[in-house]
Amino acid sequence: MVRTTSALGLVCAFAAGCSSAGAPATSSGSTTTSGVGAVPTGQKSGLDKLMRTRMNKSYTQLVFYVLDSDIDVEPAKLQHETEELRAAVEAVRALPMPPMVQSDEAREVYVTFNDTLQRDSDVFAAAVAASDRPKMEATLQKIGKTCNDCHRFFRVDVK
Ligand code: HEC
Repeated sequence: MVRTTSALGLVCAFAAGCSSAGAPATSSGSTTTSGVGAVPTGQKSGLDKLMRTRMNKSYTQLVFYVLDSDIDVEPAKLQHETEELRAAVEAVRALPMPPMVQSDEAREVYVTFNDTLQRDSDVFAAAVAASDRPKMEATLQKIGKTCNDCHRFFRVDVK
């Protein structure tokens, strides 16, 4: 809890538009469509690939299982996808930080978001183990917020 609070403090201290979504203000219209600080077009980073193929895949699948459907999903499927998410979170931590993470403050924010994500994916796994659906739902919503907060902070344009 303490970490979350300080992370939010940092976000609001260092992100110019921390409460507004949308594109960053650019001085020219010449940036790529992937947003400020993104890897130049045609040169996809390992992080981008990991986010798309693993992080997003397992998260989206879990949202479908837990938030979008009323039926109880087979525990084995849920468990498998939860492990996929946790592995993706681990894998992100093992990669170098992306180029848009430049200042010490930005590095701290980046690490803190990853800490939060890791902790919440552990909480989610425990809720799955306990078949605690309300806890799963609440935790998955929190996870989704962390994804968005990090993308907004680092101006990642998720399409
Ligand atoms: C610690 C910060 C952080 C967290 C947390 C995070 N991401 Fe990302 N994400 C990034 C960064 C940075 C990129 C851009 C990587 C690049 O372009 O090199 C990215 C890119 C993506 C992309 C590709 C965007 C595009 O269109 O090119 C998807 C999809 C994505 N993330 C999904 C997720 C999901 C789902 C979660 C949560 C389960 C998540 N991310 C959590 C930082 C984060």
